[in-house]
Amino acid sequence: MKIARYTAYGRPETVVLDDAPIPTPGPGELLVRTRAAPVTAGDARMRSGKVPRGLGLMLRLAIGWSRPRVAPGWAFAGDIAALGPGVTGFTAGQQVFGLKGFKGGAHADYLTMRADGPVLPLPDTLTYEQGAAFFFGGLTAAEFLIDRARLAPGERLLVAGATGSVGSAGVQIARHLGATVAATASPANHGLARELGATEVTDYRTGPPKGPFDVILDVMGSLGWKGAQPLLSPNGRLVLITATLADMLASTVNRRFITGTNKDDLPSMRRLVELHQKGGYTPIVGQTLPFAQLAEAHRIAESFHKPGNLVVTMGDAT
Ligand SMILES: NC(=O)c1ccc[n+]([C@@H]2O[C@H](COP(=O)([O-])OP(=O)(O)OC[C@H]3O[C@@H](n4cnc5c(N)ncnc54)[C@H](OP(=O)(O)O)[C@@H]3O)[C@@H](O)[C@H]2O)c1
Repeated sequence: MKIARYTAYGRPETVVLDDAPIPTPGPGELLVRTRAAPVTAGDARMRSGKVPRGLGLMLRLAIGWSRPRVAPGWAFAGDIAALGPGVTGFTAGQQVFGLKGFKGGAHADYLTMRADGPVLPLPDTLTYEQGAAFFFGGLTAAEFLIDRARLAPGERLLVAGATGSVGSAGVQIARHLGATVAATASPANHGLARELGATEVTDYRTGPPKGPFDVILDVMGSLGWKGAQPLLSPNGRLVLITATLADMLASTVNRRFITGTNKDDLPSMRRLVELHQKGGYTPIVGQTLPFAQLAEAHRIAESFHKPGNLVVTMGDAT
C-alpha cells in the first residue's frame, strides 16, 4: 500500500508517498481501507511549520524539532477491511469515517483504528468524499459557535472568510441555529456564500458588511480584536479561529474575545452527525484529487483560498 510521510518542514514536496505492508489489526482494532481523506489547513501548517506568530516553538515542541514526526492525514472515510480479535459493534465491509487526530496516519491506503476510538458508521446521506470532509471545519465551527460564543436564535453573525472549511460550516450551522448571517469572501465565492445561507456578502479586501454584530467568526484572524471591536454590539463576541500567541493571551482577560482549539472527541463527532441528520450541516467538497497528487493538494491547501474542503481519494471512491 501507499502511505504518506513528511521528510522535513517546508514546501509541499516534503510530503512523499512510500510503499509499506498493509497493517494487521491488533486486538480491539479495525483495519480500514481508506477511500478519501481531507487535506486541511492544519495538514498544510504541520508540513510547512508555518503557524500564527508566537506558536512556532509550541508546534516544534509538540510534533518535532527538525521535521514533523507525525504521520500525514488527520481524518478519513473508508470501509472496514478486517476486524481485529475481540471487536464488537462493527462489521467487515461497513462504511466508516473518523479521525486519526494530530498524530495522523489517514493519508494511507489502509489504516488501523481502535474500535472504541474516534470512528463512526458513515451515514448513507454522505459520500466517502463528504465523510472525509465532514469533521475538520464542522467540529471547529460547531464548538466555537454553539459552546463558546453561545450563538442564539435571532442574533446577527458575521463570518469573515465564509466559504473555506471552517467558514462554510459556520454559515450553515449558524443558519440552523436561527441566526442571520453576513459574510465576507473573495468575489469568486460570493455565490457560494449566499447558497450556504449568508444574506449579505462583501469582499474582505474592500471591507466587511455594516455592523453591529452579536458574534463575529474571524476565520483567518484578518480583523482581529482591533478590527472587530467597532463592529460588535455591546455584548458582541469575537471568535478568532486563527489566533497568535498574543491574541490567546489577550483573550484570557476579555470574556468577549474567544480563541483556542476545539475538541475532536466522540461526543463532539456524534453531535455533528446529529446536526447533519437534522439538516444543519453538510460539508462542502470543493475539489477532489487522486491520492498520488497529495503534494499538489498541499499546495492548494496552504493558499487558504480553497472553497470548502479539499479531499484526496484512494482506490475507487464513489
Ligand atoms: N482554532 C482551531 O482550533 C482551528 C481549527 C481549524 C482551523 N483553524 C485555522 O483556521 C484557519 C482557516 O481554516 P480553513 O480550513 O477554514 O481554511 P480554508 O479552507 O483554506 O479557508 C480559508 C478562508 O479564509 C478566507 N480568507 C483568506 N484570506 C482572507 C483574508 N485576508 N481575509 C478574510 N478572509 C480570508 C478564504 O476566502 P476566499 O477563498 O474567498 O479568499 C477562505 O474562506 C486556518 O488558519 C486554520 O489553521 C483553527
